[in-house]
Amino acid sequence: MSISFNSVDRTLNLQTRNTTYQMQLTESGYLRHLYYGRRIPGACQARLITRMDAGFSPNPHHLGFQRSFSLDLQPQEYSTANIGDFRVPALIAATADGCYGDELRYVSHESRPGKYALEGLPCAHGGEEDCDTLSIVLKDEATNLTVELLYAVYEAEDVITRAARIVNNSEQVINLERASSMTLDLPYGDWQLIHFHGRHAMERQMERVDIMHGIQSVGSLRGASSHHHNPFVILCDRAAGEEQGDCVGIMPVYSGNHRTDIEKDQMDSVRVVTGINPDLFRWTLNPGESFTAPEVILSFTHQGLGQLSRNYHHFIRERIIRSTWNHKTRPVLLNNWEATYFNFDSDKILEIARQAKDMGVELLVLDDGWFGQRCDDNRALGDWYVNEEKLKGGLGKLIEGVNALGLRFGLWMEPEMVSEDSDLYRAHPDWALTVPGRLPAMGRNQLVLDMGRQEVVDYLYDIISGLLSKYHIEYVKWDMNRNISDIYSRVLPGERQGEAFHRYILGVYKLLDKLTTAFPEVLWEGCAGGGGRYDAGMMCYFPQIWLSDDTDALERLTIQHGSTFGYPVSTMGAHVSICPNHQTGRTVPLGTRAVVAMSGTFGYELDPAHLSDEEKEQVKVQIQRFKTWYDVIQNGDYYRLTAPGADRFMAWQYVSADKGEALLNVVVTHTMANMRGVHLRMAGLDPNANYRMEALVTEGSETILDMVEMKPRDGEDSYSGAELMYAGITLPQMGGDYPSVQIHFVKN
Ligand code: GLA
Repeated sequence: MSISFNSVDRTLNLQTRNTTYQMQLTESGYLRHLYYGRRIPGACQARLITRMDAGFSPNPHHLGFQRSFSLDLQPQEYSTANIGDFRVPALIAATADGCYGDELRYVSHESRPGKYALEGLPCAHGGEEDCDTLSIVLKDEATNLTVELLYAVYEAEDVITRAARIVNNSEQVINLERASSMTLDLPYGDWQLIHFHGRHAMERQMERVDIMHGIQSVGSLRGASSHHHNPFVILCDRAAGEEQGDCVGIMPVYSGNHRTDIEKDQMDSVRVVTGINPDLFRWTLNPGESFTAPEVILSFTHQGLGQLSRNYHHFIRERIIRSTWNHKTRPVLLNNWEATYFNFDSDKILEIARQAKDMGVELLVLDDGWFGQRCDDNRALGDWYVNEEKLKGGLGKLIEGVNALGLRFGLWMEPEMVSEDSDLYRAHPDWALTVPGRLPAMGRNQLVLDMGRQEVVDYLYDIISGLLSKYHIEYVKWDMNRNISDIYSRVLPGERQGEAFHRYILGVYKLLDKLTTAFPEVLWEGCAGGGGRYDAGMMCYFPQIWLSDDTDALERLTIQHGSTFGYPVSTMGAHVSICPNHQTGRTVPLGTRAVVAMSGTFGYELDPAHLSDEEKEQVKVQIQRFKTWYDVIQNGDYYRLTAPGADRFMAWQYVSADKGEALLNVVVTHTMANMRGVHLRMAGLDPNANYRMEALVTEGSETILDMVEMKPRDGEDSYSGAELMYAGITLPQMGGDYPSVQIHFVKN
């Protein structure tokens, strides 16, 4: 069992393969945090926490004249407000008569093999062999509010998940004004913060900053986890790099309004509080009711950012994604969006499908525009019946045609939305989220359905399950193309309007849970204007998510780089599109576009009619190459070898679990005259093994790489892992714009 209680020093110890997480019950019954870091034997680390009489830090009344203990100076497991800890609270609760604050003290704890479940919320899964659960019950005597802190310890994965359940055991109403998932206090260390900001079509740009005194926050109030701040942060020590240094990852499993506050206090101690964004949030708990705060995935490593990422990649693949497609080979797809936008009919789609099939594509995705009067993006969302002017003979006939070519068929939908100009809106205007008496802000000329209403969820279930039952649809792309403003639910009373945002996302989860359970064979791909809801919550339902509406390969390098800190490439929808690129106007060689898109769930998003015969041949080869290397790309260990802007190229690498093969990828982002060749050091190989270059592919280069030059030494055809990693390799000079190289190494 990875969880133990030492009754002598009253410590609770959570042990994973390489990490230890320790808490302690104080004599007064407070639950304080002692340590999260590299694995140590179970010895109590209370010695680390100094007790002192610091001015203006209050002392609990019951300690009498003893002034050396203050909740304001003690590391907490779950921080609360108005009881003498002035740092960020995880919980702010007020009784109906206006009393704020909860002084939480220990009641009980229990541990058992297996994983706790969270009602209505997605979370990691695991059997009794995989993890152990710890539940700690804390209670505020004055109000009878209890908090159950939940921990699941995934020993082999170096992951601990946390969640909290708040129960109103009093006789009166209690209002939650903040109900975060967890507090993590790190009393020591010179930490920096890494977070992932962005915008539409430029998501998850990695930023590393010092932690200032005061509070820094990242979060979203957009009703979605957002393009703008991903729900994932890393705290790492100042010296941490890809291969060394302490790193703590904090990833909420949540797709709605989230917030992570990082506070550096008067003693330079760092507190992290994460969970549902407390702004525009208020939840009423009647006597006997409970509220569950979403799960957070924690991981620690002393082996740098690369190892932290690999911990998350593995965890998401093994414990978050539930889809039957998770470990199956995903089909190479062609999506018609950038090929046609709204301008298509059945003949056009079938012609695209025919040419796609010739190139080796396996799945044809029909994107936006197939339903109702959807001739542009100003109308018809909600009218999920086939537009027979475009699709003559109907959807069934089109699917038959696509299937007859030997391709699977997939369909785009945006279920959570409604256009003002739609039959659905005309029938149910009150289903849209709008504030009474105010005209709503429009986004892409559409409104958002109140997913917190059961009848909306039921209606959408009937519509979507009807389509999936009637037609042979093997893939669904589930989009969400605006953020939520004007939140107001017509089914909630005034005092409960603060629940509408969270009820929205609970409704989305309910619908996704029911649909993905009823149609497990469908490959569900998530999307929210690209990567606006690219988070661990969504990954519980969607094994892959369209990463960004930006398909420019050069820009994708930084989007994909940022995304790899928390998420495996098997979750990243990535397509080759036409050049000049529709978002940036840039031209990148077709081969390099494929090298970049191959580091994801690979596909194309173009009209093959715009490719020359020679380019079509290139595409055939790309698809074959992707299939050959599929396993090492999708299931291998991922290594970032460069950071955006740090050099004139980007490089990354995959290594199979047994270190038997590796795939090196390099894209030159800035070609210069008279420059020495790209030099880089590989990573993750077996230093004592010999690797031969089984394949070397160059794309878009005017200067052809000379295989003779790339030979290690005369008469030898292999390099040692040690020399590839420690001395590195140098590629000859490559000319032209954005050339790229892939080298496949296989152990001799
Ligand atoms: C969003 C998606 C695109 C495409 C369009 C269709 O922007 O991210 O891939 O599906 O919607 O309207």
